[in-house]
Amino acid sequence: MTVLSQLLATLGPDVVTRGAAVPDRNRHDWSGDAPVEPLALIRPRSVEEVSAALRICHASHTPVVAQGGLTGISGGAMPIAQGVALSLERMNRVIDVDPGQATLSAEAGCLLEVAQNAATEQGLMLAIDLGARGSCTLGGVISTNAGGNQVLRYGMTREHVLGVEVVLADGTILPAMNRLLKNNVGIDLKHLFIGSEGLLGIVTKAVFRLQPRPTHGATAFVGCASSGAMLDLLRRVRAALGPDLISFEVMWPSFYDIMREGIAAPHPLAERHGVYVIVEAGGFDPQVRDRLETCLADAMAAGALADAVIGANLREDRSFWAVRESVTHYARILGPLTAFDIGIPLDRMAAAVADLEAALRARWPDVRALSYGHMGDSNLHLVVNCPSAVVQPSKEIKALVYGMTRDLGGTVSAEHGIGTSKRDVIGYSRSAEELATMRALKATLDPHTILNPGKSFS
Ligand code: MLT
Ligand code: ZN
Repeated sequence: MTVLSQLLATLGPDVVTRGAAVPDRNRHDWSGDAPVEPLALIRPRSVEEVSAALRICHASHTPVVAQGGLTGISGGAMPIAQGVALSLERMNRVIDVDPGQATLSAEAGCLLEVAQNAATEQGLMLAIDLGARGSCTLGGVISTNAGGNQVLRYGMTREHVLGVEVVLADGTILPAMNRLLKNNVGIDLKHLFIGSEGLLGIVTKAVFRLQPRPTHGATAFVGCASSGAMLDLLRRVRAALGPDLISFEVMWPSFYDIMREGIAAPHPLAERHGVYVIVEAGGFDPQVRDRLETCLADAMAAGALADAVIGANLREDRSFWAVRESVTHYARILGPLTAFDIGIPLDRMAAAVADLEAALRARWPDVRALSYGHMGDSNLHLVVNCPSAVVQPSKEIKALVYGMTRDLGGTVSAEHGIGTSKRDVIGYSRSAEELATMRALKATLDPHTILNPGKSFS
């Protein structure tokens, strides 16, 4: 019996589809890689069906790629022609919100935004937030250890996950749905599956820690003369706001001008500046807005910023984010791109942005190199497009950017993961010993290398 007929016999044609019946959306993610038709698409309705599928694939050494919202841009969810794509899209329920314990449990295919709303309805907050909130799923967020716009205040996804249910490569269901904030028994296995891009197991459910919803907040849109001034501003708002600093998001004109024009967004300031910053403050202090205002006024007097406006209401606050969160428009506005999520030590950030943009321009004079990112997290995004190139010189662009990142003591991935796109440079940011240990874990948990082979450290 072929693997396909075993899968069909066990799970039925409603769960297992193939050929033309595999929707376009399951053939690619947002990496820009060419679509691939998998051997079959499996859309299980329960953990038992995930387990049954993996048992068959394990026995037949058939590759399995887990899929969530397919918004990843590193290729982690790209299907493999000789393997199955296993989409968690039908396992999309919020299971419960426990206001007393401040937890939320949900299936892996649940959209981040649906989980956020379920927490909000109970007066609490799931404090993971990213631009793709309406399309990305909790399973994808966990398997990439996603970052986003509030990491500075609340940490990466890892900080929010209390428990998981995972199906291992051989079909074993690993129940680890811990709901307690402190559970110090042995190894906390959930961490193996957070950020490991589906290489060690498939997350099917999770328990998240919830936060109280801030009662007061304010958002400022700021123009700084230079990267140096912006970094001075970061030091100042950190000191003035402490834990009430939620976001410090930066856009250089290379990003801001082209994307603002592309989405026809208004410019909140009277003039143009060398760097733009969104500063979001929030917490339980009724004075938080005043503290932000005072801090910005002091920073202006000290030359750390040139101009700033504080949103008058929530609608205006949100409007400041329009350009920063324009990721779904990149392809339309820029065409094919090579995208980066590098990390650079902050004391080298100002020079790094200037040097990276200059080096790219020196090599490709008409290049569009757009810089922006989560500066509070030392995380720089760079999106590169060569308008005149028939085929984007992605390989050369990556070699240049990752080479400079390594030389600056940075990381090749601050938040998007490795997938297929950064496999060649994984050794720039992890030691040989770390990689050997990751591979030893892989060999133990997935001896036939069926889970997402050819991705990340696999
Ligand atoms: C973001 O910060 O908006 C996301 O990581 C996506 C990106 O910009 O590459
Ligand atoms: Zn980001």
